[in-house]
Amino acid sequence: MVRLFRDGPLMKALGAIWEFRDRITTIRIVQSMEKLEGRTAIVTGASRGIGKAVAVMLGREGANVVATARTKQAIDSLARNIVHSGGNALAVEADLSIDSDVQRIADETLAKFGRIDILVNNAAIIHPSVNLVDFDFDLWRKVIAVNLEAAALLTKHCLPSMIENSYGKVINISSIGGRKGGKGRSAYRVTKSALISLTESVAAEVKPYGIDVNCICPGGVDTEGYREAFATRGKADDPNMMAPEEIANLVVFLASDDSSSVTGTAIDAFGGTNPLFD
Ligand SMILES: NC(=O)c1ccc[n+]([C@@H]2O[C@H](COP(=O)([O-])OP(=O)(O)OC[C@H]3O[C@@H](n4cnc5c(N)ncnc54)[C@H](OP(=O)(O)O)[C@@H]3O)[C@@H](O)[C@H]2O)c1
Repeated sequence: MVRLFRDGPLMKALGAIWEFRDRITTIRIVQSMEKLEGRTAIVTGASRGIGKAVAVMLGREGANVVATARTKQAIDSLARNIVHSGGNALAVEADLSIDSDVQRIADETLAKFGRIDILVNNAAIIHPSVNLVDFDFDLWRKVIAVNLEAAALLTKHCLPSMIENSYGKVINISSIGGRKGGKGRSAYRVTKSALISLTESVAAEVKPYGIDVNCICPGGVDTEGYREAFATRGKADDPNMMAPEEIANLVVFLASDDSSSVTGTAIDAFGGTNPLFD
């Protein structure tokens, strides 16, 4: 009788129910582990490289992703993929050197999602190495406009929504080049060191509203932009170079509540390209 109860159809049915219940619980736990559920994140320069990896990862963590860049096809396809994976996304084609485009990024985000929680100022022009004496000054000014001014202006347009909600995470992508000047790198490095300073100033201004502003200084990352600027094959030439996802992981941390103790900082993420190892 006992044996019949232990091995019988009733126990089998109960076992199946328990297994099903465990599976549902696991799914619930995995879902609740999405760190950015309900948050809306703007990522500039999302058409490729680090920005694309950041957009994908923020989407995986449950954020509504606004992917912006000039290459419409790339951001449309990225947004489609996020939506196909069950997320929410919007592609906004915009040129950051045009002030009205910068305003439109914030406007379209608010029209679609109603709030802005996370801003990742990632887009940049990585110019080839040219000494100042030979530098085309139109390009020099454009580097300042895209890498620095647009980051400040887009932050300015996003802050009112963050202030209204007493919540925000602004993440500026600076560079190892923001830590020190370098031959041939005058325009780029000026913008990257200025981004560190901008991070500190704005962080001090908005802390009372519950907004954190931080900055990441990546070392060498194997991206299309890096390969084009320095005519290399990336990791194939330098195995120490990082993958874009390694920087995106850090962005997810800074975008999440896990980083509540961190603001006004510039975090070095040099990976294997750390000059300590030279
Ligand atoms: N790769 C590295 O080793 C490295 C190291 C340190 C820091 N970083 C920083 O990390 C960030 C991403 O670098 P990455 O290597 O991924 O660069 P990337 O491959 O060249 O990508 C740059 C992104 O910026 C966008 N962009 C450029 N000009 C724009 C403009 N006028 N308007 C709108 N978007 C524009 C590009 O999109 P469209 O061309 O489609 O507009 C692209 O999506 C940059 O801030 C860079 O300075 C990179």
